Amino acid sequence: MNPVPNILSLKKVPRHVAVIMDGNGRWAKERGLPRIEGHKEGAQSVRALLRAAKKANIEYLTVYAFSTENWKRPPQEIKGLMQLLVDSLNAYEQELHDNRIRLRVMGQFDRLPPPVRKRLQKTIDATAHYAGHTFIVALSYGARTEIAEAARQIAEKAKAGELDPATIDERTVAEHLYLPDVPDPELMIRTSGELRLSNFMLWQLSYAEFHIADTYWPDFREEQFFQALEAFSARDRRYGATKETEGANHG
Ligand code: FPP
Repeated sequence: MNPVPNILSLKKVPRHVAVIMDGNGRWAKERGLPRIEGHKEGAQSVRALLRAAKKANIEYLTVYAFSTENWKRPPQEIKGLMQLLVDSLNAYEQELHDNRIRLRVMGQFDRLPPPVRKRLQKTIDATAHYAGHTFIVALSYGARTEIAEAARQIAEKAKAGELDPATIDERTVAEHLYLPDVPDPELMIRTSGELRLSNFMLWQLSYAEFHIADTYWPDFREEQFFQALEAFSARDRRYGATKETEGANHG
């Protein structure tokens, strides 16, 4: 087994890490357990990740907890996931306060069941004043829907005469996404070895480094996270520039 990297020795850490948590179902199946048990163990990994990200001084951590496509899962699994979300919030809320971490949600908030919305809103409001660290949960999230909604808002503003179509550029689109004030992730981690983006932050991940871990999400803990940070730290990010022009656009 690889030794646990010393996070203090990392050359650079990303400001924002986004995570596709994959493999809960397979983890449960391999153990002859119902899928929800995989999600429950996965929720423990989320907690471990929150702690590890704080330790490594990551400013923004985003996890893909429920996609727009996930509404097609069996009603029983959806219900179990929504309940798990509420139970997890109850279990971690104090920890968010102790570590001064702000909770935000990204996605179609209005599609979530009212009791889940209410529970989330309580913690969102109670942590809104914390500035240093932000935990973002993508819920009923789909990047194509996000971009389409941005396009609609921009079109409405143009129609109302509030915006000149000739001035629409990348920044205009970025300003109309769900969380326009959050910097783009520099590192995207996906577990269970899959090489897909699955409609996750298509716009924001344009320049991100990808780290694919073979581990199923319930087995992805601090050690695996620090290995991902170490791999990121060793990479050379150039944003399409050459070595010589590096830094001209993105610093
Ligand atoms: C992917 O595994 C996982 C999900 C769709 C749900 C992730 C949700 C949690 C870990 C619950 C807790 C979340 C928070 C924010 C506390 P999968 O079911 O697609 O696995 P499979 O591909 O092996 O079937």
